[in-house]
Amino acid sequence: MSKRVRMLEGSSIASDIVKQVLDIASGRKRVLVSLDSNHTHEHVLAELKAYSPLVTKGSYLVVFDTVVDDMPKTFFPDRPWGPGNNPKTAVREFLRATDRFEVDRELEGKLLLTVAPDGYLKCLKD
Ligand SMILES: C[S@@+](CC[C@H](N)C(=O)[O-])C[C@H]1O[C@@H](n2cnc3c(N)ncnc32)[C@H](O)[C@@H]1O
Repeated sequence: MSKRVRMLEGSSIASDIVKQVLDIASGRKRVLVSLDSNHTHEHVLAELKAYSPLVTKGSYLVVFDTVVDDMPKTFFPDRPWGPGNNPKTAVREFLRATDRFEVDRELEGKLLLTVAPDGYLKCLKD
């Protein structure tokens, strides 16, 4: 499996990192993107804007830890994110501005437990 993994070191929203990822993924027939880094609204929204163009029709943009929005504020005393400022709030803002993705609740319904409620975004068109 490790042969299939290529690590890029840097912030996921730094322009040089975004460019490298876009270059690596360009021309691929099927691309799935999963986001699971810094969980603030601003950071995830920037990731969504940077990497969503890579996702191919029928594939997924998976945004982890959207569950933060559903947790008590006291769960994240030492984090810059929490209810109201997290991956789910970023997903909501992102979806208001695009018609390429929708939340796939059918897929989510197959999971007994998920840290990504409303985080499985199905790509509807290239
Ligand atoms: C919730 S963990 C996810 C780990 C990984 N998805 C896994 O399952 O092993 C978040 C990771 O994102 C990294 N991270 C934090 N800020 C980041 C950023 N701006 N760009 C890229 N990665 C970041 C952290 O160092 C940490 O390793």
